[in-house]
Amino acid sequence: MKKVQVSLGERSYNIWIGPGLLSQAGQKIAKVVDGRKCALITDDKVGPVYAEEVSKSLKAAGFDVALIELPSGEKTKSLKWLGHCYDQLAQARLDRKSFLVALGGGVVGDLAGFVAASYLRGIDCIQIPTTLLAQVDSSVGGKVGINLKSGKNLVGAFHQPKTVLCDTDTLKTLPDRELRAGLAEVIKYGIIWDARFFSWIEKNTELLLKKDEKALTRAIGRSCAIKSEVVAEDEKETTGARALLNFGHTLGHGLEAISGYGQYLHGEAISIGQVAAARLSVQLVDMPQEHALRIYKLFQSMELPVEWNASRSQESKILKAMQLDKKNVSGEIRFVLSSCIGRASSGHPVSEATILNVIETLRS
Ligand code: NAD
Ligand code: GLY
Repeated sequence: MKKVQVSLGERSYNIWIGPGLLSQAGQKIAKVVDGRKCALITDDKVGPVYAEEVSKSLKAAGFDVALIELPSGEKTKSLKWLGHCYDQLAQARLDRKSFLVALGGGVVGDLAGFVAASYLRGIDCIQIPTTLLAQVDSSVGGKVGINLKSGKNLVGAFHQPKTVLCDTDTLKTLPDRELRAGLAEVIKYGIIWDARFFSWIEKNTELLLKKDEKALTRAIGRSCAIKSEVVAEDEKETTGARALLNFGHTLGHGLEAISGYGQYLHGEAISIGQVAAARLSVQLVDMPQEHALRIYKLFQSMELPVEWNASRSQESKILKAMQLDKKNVSGEIRFVLSSCIGRASSGHPVSEATILNVIETLRS
């Protein structure tokens, strides 16, 4: 079992990574919470397979558990389901000492985390991520929130979990497409922070795609270690370090928004977004062409999308969606760019004409 610490003073917590963690959830959670009542929030794909094991473990540790099962999918990260969760918590009489357990992918984690951040002005939250994407990214660092029709993650908060349990056994049932989407975030850590990790991913592509337990545990461990380093440096995204985690997300979030949060998985959208960001990096911050090619090839060998044939109306829609990006300043669209694999910087203004040019290069 691996342990990664997120060092944030009194809000510090551990991320546990390994097999068999669901059945240890009660014991691990008992060490970090005060209350006895909790709600286990999950979705209708994860719940039927894993909620009973978690619930049993929580009850064995003496907790009262109310189960809330939501429809799976990005559309659940909405005002409608946020309201539903508040109602369910009030009906189950959760109080200020109570806590939430988010069991599922990033959708459940982001929504449940935001419910925890706001219900009774904030209660504790435990993250039990069950997708690779949630294990390497969304469950760590405390960004929680929901989407609005006009854009992704436009309502949210920073609310750090009390602990994160990444049970690698849960990845056995994860569909391959979802696994690949998570690998898009794993690759991102290599690009923005760690060239050696990027090379390791290049060498271990096949093992990762085959869900080799050792390779996945190493990828999750290194990704969580990088994310916790970044978050410890810039918890609330004020100095620019945390913004690096958004490499590929400016175009990626735009793509998700204009496709109605259905066509592309988050990881797929940011795969196209990272290929575009690498090309912009060659133009604007002197990334060697060869690095942009390695980035393109790695996404391609992970069987992730690297092309986008945008129609004219999609081009103008994506520009509009990108104007809503939280990283923008005074209406200018800002990108995270990388001067070479392993290094990145944020806050680069990019003109609409340059963005349209890069979109042109994405055509197959
Ligand atoms: P998701 O939560 O929709 O899960 C993907 C699908 O896999 C769902 O259908 C789910 O039911 C299913 N699933 C989950 N675990 C499973 C398992 N073990 N076996 C079988 N099926 C399983 O999607 P996701 O990719 O985990 O998360 C995407 C969300 O995360 C997006 O909303 C994105 O904005 C958000 N996100 C947030 C952060 C953050 O810092 N908070 C970072 C990255 C992404
Ligand atoms: N996934 C971006 C962040 O946590 O800041």
